[in-house]
Amino acid sequence: MTESVTRPLHAAIAAQLQAQQGWLAFDAFMQMALYEPGLGYYSNDRRKIGLMPARELAEAGPNGDKQSTEGSDFATAPEMSALFGRSIAAQILEVLEHTGTDCVYEFGAGNGTLARDILQTLGPRVRHYYIVDVSLALRERQAQTLAEFGDQVQWLAELPEALEGVLLGNEVLDAMPVKLIVQKQGQWFERGVALDASQNFVWADRPTVHAAPIEVHCEQDYVTEIHPWADAFVRTTSERLKKGAAIWIDYGFSEHEFYHPQRHMGTLVCHFQHQMDDLPLQQVGLKDITAHVNFTAVAVTAQQAGLEVLGYTSQARFLANCGIAALLEQAPLAQRIMGAKLLHEHEMGELFKVIMLGAGPFWEPLGFINGDRTHTL
Ligand SMILES: C[S@@+](CC[C@H](N)C(=O)[O-])C[C@H]1O[C@@H](n2cnc3c(N)ncnc32)[C@H](O)[C@@H]1O
Repeated sequence: MTESVTRPLHAAIAAQLQAQQGWLAFDAFMQMALYEPGLGYYSNDRRKIGLMPARELAEAGPNGDKQSTEGSDFATAPEMSALFGRSIAAQILEVLEHTGTDCVYEFGAGNGTLARDILQTLGPRVRHYYIVDVSLALRERQAQTLAEFGDQVQWLAELPEALEGVLLGNEVLDAMPVKLIVQKQGQWFERGVALDASQNFVWADRPTVHAAPIEVHCEQDYVTEIHPWADAFVRTTSERLKKGAAIWIDYGFSEHEFYHPQRHMGTLVCHFQHQMDDLPLQQVGLKDITAHVNFTAVAVTAQQAGLEVLGYTSQARFLANCGIAALLEQAPLAQRIMGAKLLHEHEMGELFKVIMLGAGPFWEPLGFINGDRTHTL
């Protein structure tokens, strides 16, 4: 599998690079590395999202069962605990009630685990659960996970012009291609990819008109990202949301934290078998490539498209407001341990944020009753 992915993907990217006179912007590289049909990280058949790297799975899966015989590269909140989806379900229900709607649109549904937990909690209150995912391979996995729900779950090949209900995405914005930019002695360059004499991918910087959205005063070279793909996604989904709310959950910061002088190496990282590295030009197609989200940009783009920011807070605060404490109390010990990881500051509780954007006039949703941080954006 390794060679059969990396070789043709390397060749496809190299061909694209040559067609662009030997230099490919990093976002174009990342798009192919993650989503090139059949070959990109999210488009090939390898298992990606789960709790265990391959070697530990030889004996037993996380539940002591034999179902996961292949390893994974990273764990997401829904894979860690069903209490994530069950807590979010409380917020979804409130939006559906408040706005008189009955549909959920989940973007980038991974293995389908979050959808399953939400549907098991809300049952027929969700008339249709639509999934939009750019990965065909993951859509097949989702279909297996969600078979029990029949026609209640549907996959959309194209986004409808008008959306009513809840739009939901966990760790989707971070999976969208980013542009890499570098400030050297006050001047901005765009970091792209070229080929060296041995046909290896190498970095190549060019002067650019792009810049960080705020001034960065840093004496050393300052590498960072800008997010035109996530911006376009938030703009389109916000413009089409006619009734209801969008909930985006991801790791990231407000703009002034994101472009802090101390963060001079940027936020781009790769995940492979539960190890992190900062070498996206190697093992292309076998590693996830991801960057943190600029939540100020998400808020501003959504506002420009006519939505209200209904709340922004940490994942821990959001889940606490949605009632996770009561669920934890009732859960068996093993589930409580995994559920607590969603909340702990040093695990997912603080780095992950939740932003909620609403169509129509402002109202105060359940998830932001305590500890709303919209004023920090
Ligand atoms: C890091 S995974 C997260 C999966 C899942 N939400 C979870 O929490 O386990 C990113 C997902 O986003 C999908 N994705 C990336 N860009 C997308 C887009 N523009 N529209 C819909 N899905 C997208 C990927 O195919 C993948 O399923």
